[in-house]
This record gives sequence, structure tokens and C-alpha cells, in this order.
Amino acid sequence: MTEALQNDRFLRALRREATDTTPVWVMRQAGRYLPEYRATRARAGSFMALAQSPELACEVTLQPLERFELDAAILFSDILTIPDAMGLGLSFAHGEGPQFAHPVRTRADVEKLGVPDMEGELRYVMDAVRVIRRELHGRVPLIGFSGSPWTLACYMVEGQGSRDFARLKAMCWNEPTLAHRLLDTLAHSVAAYLIAQAAAGAQALMVFDTWGGLLGPAAFREFSLRYMAQVVEALKAHPASRDLPLILFSKGAGQHLGALADTGCAGLGVDWTIDLADARQAVAGRVALQGNLDPAVLLASPDVIRREVRRVMDSYGNHPGHVFNLGHGITPEVNPEHVKVLVDEVHAYGRQLRG
Ligand code: CP3
Repeated sequence: MTEALQNDRFLRALRREATDTTPVWVMRQAGRYLPEYRATRARAGSFMALAQSPELACEVTLQPLERFELDAAILFSDILTIPDAMGLGLSFAHGEGPQFAHPVRTRADVEKLGVPDMEGELRYVMDAVRVIRRELHGRVPLIGFSGSPWTLACYMVEGQGSRDFARLKAMCWNEPTLAHRLLDTLAHSVAAYLIAQAAAGAQALMVFDTWGGLLGPAAFREFSLRYMAQVVEALKAHPASRDLPLILFSKGAGQHLGALADTGCAGLGVDWTIDLADARQAVAGRVALQGNLDPAVLLASPDVIRREVRRVMDSYGNHPGHVFNLGHGITPEVNPEHVKVLVDEVHAYGRQLRG
């Protein structure tokens, strides 16, 4: 567990320390764009069977590292493991999004929910973290993750994916105390989940607030930001997680970067709708930034990919504290060779920038 890291660029960048080049990893780097992922998933039978087998989850976590010189590994799992462990009955219909058999709609539904047992219903996640740490042999750090309370609530109340998650928004307006009770239970669950991943061996943590940007500014502060701040505070209060860097990623929330940095997190994920130069100004050197290439650029030719990678890196400039990533997850139709072009260009241009 205390094995020295062979590559600590990612952790150094999150501490805003100097690095030899810019570290890079890719959101959803283990996923359907890789034929070897599709093969392992077929062997597992379903996405949940894959996620619930620590050995297979480890296998797919390591697959992208065999192909590309990535500077971090991310636990193979999903944000919806928490609601599944709360008894909502998660399934993924083939080629479709997530579905809950028992969505949360009424006061009775909310009052039934409790914090899941991290070494009980969610033990398979902690076992996966332990197996992956062992098999990584210190090559790169392992990122653990969770959904944000707001984003988990979006799926739990809707019962499936949605363009606007209007059911949860309606609950926020019509029954705010009920919405707050749900979000508070989720904040306690998310904190316990991340602390357990840290105790199991995760070396950095990330919170995906994929749907925070659906909220207006005041609602974002009340229903999304506030509960992420609660999570940050809980992580800072616990010895297992206190010293781990935490990245918050609120998609579509470029106008809230300053407020997100105020939570005391180490880094912020940034989507492609804001220039990193403006994002740097907004956070004034208080946190590292992770992002922010439009994932659709990977559908373009290698020359365009290299040019757009350099554009993102020029926007950040020659300063410490940049982790290169996409502005959201990689999509299934991307050619894996294009990911190699991206990763190699980040490292080559990062060295050139440091001159
Ligand atoms: O980044 C990684 O490589 C780690 C694995 C990871 C997955 N999901 C695996 C997965 C991570 C970090 C997630 C997070 C996640 N899951 C988010 C937040 C990040 C984001 O992309 O916004 C969200 C909103 C989910 C919920 C979810 N899981 C949806 C909407 C879907 C179906 C849509 C889709 O992209 O297929 C999933 C399934 C899922 N989670 C897959 C993977 C690789 C595809 C399932 C399959 O193999 O069929």
C-alpha cells in the first residue's frame, strides 16, 4: 500500500507543484470505445456484473493504461452504485441509459433511505479499489469517485436519464424540505463512500456533478454546491481522506468556479464552454484545473486533435496546476488511435511549453 509511485505528475499538478510535463487522463477512459472493454463486458454479461466483479473491474481499469501513457487510473465503477445500494434496483438496458425499478417520488420514499454500508452492500467497490491498487504496482495513482448529491438525486427521482430532470426540480420548488432531506442523506452517503475508497487505497478523489449546470445560479448554490461543500468538509475531517486531493466537476457551471474553489477542494474539472485562461482568473491560483478539450474533437483528424490540444494548453499557459482531460466523458465512437494522438501530444507539447 505504501509502495512508492513511479509517476506522481497527476498528484503534483493537483498540489500546483512543477512537473516535467502536463499530466493527462481521460474521463471514461475505460469504456466502449475500446474493443477489449467490449470483450470483457460481453464476458461479464452486463455492466453491473462487470462493475461488481473486482477482478473484471480491475482488468478494464488497466486496459487503457496498456495502450496509452496515461498519468492516472480511475476506478471502474459507476456513480449510480450508491442509489443501487440504497435499494432502488439499478439496471442498464442494452444500449440505453440507467433505469431504477424503484424511483424516489414521495416523502415515504425519501424517509426510507439510509446511508448504505460501505463494507456491506458496497463492499464490491472497496474490493475493486484494493485489487486495482495491488495490480497497479505504483505505476500511476488511482482515482476514486462518486456522483454529487445533486446528480445522484437527479437519477433517483427521475428513475432514469433525462434532458432536464424536471421531477427533482419540481420537488425542489414544491417540497424544498423533502428535497433537502434527500440531498442531506446523499451528502452523508457520498462522504462515507469516498472515505471508504480512500481507506481502501484510492489516492485522489473526484465528485461528478454532471447535472449541476441544469440549475439557475441561486438554485445551484442551494441544491448542488452546498452539499458538495458538506462532502468536502466531511473528507477534511476524516484521517483516511484528509490528505487526498479532491476534484469537483460541475458540468456547465463555469460561472461558479470561484464559489466551487471556496469549498477548499484541490482541483476543479472544467468543461469546454469556458477558456482555461478565464477559468484560471476565476479561481485566482487557489485550485488546480482539470480539462477541458471538447470530447467531439476526438472525432476529427490527428492534425486537428494536435492543434486543439495545443490550444487548450496555450490557454492555461506555462503555469503549474493543469491536469489535461476532456471536458466530459469520451464517447463510444472514438477511434482509440486518436486517444494515443491526444495523450502523446499533451506530453510532447507540455515539455515544449516548459522549454
Ligand atoms: O471514467 C472511467 O473510466 C471510470 C468509469 C465510470 C463509468 N461511469 C463507467 C460506465 C465513471 C467515472 C462513470 C461516472 C458516471 N456514470 C457519470 C458521471 C460522469 C459523466 O459522464 O457525466 C454518470 C452521469 C453516470 C451514469 C451513467 N452510467 C450513465 C448515464 C450511463 C449510460 C450512458 C452511457 O454512457 O452508456 C452509465 C453506464 C456506464 N458507466 C458505462 C460505463 C463504461 C457504459 C455502460 C456499458 O458498458 O454498456
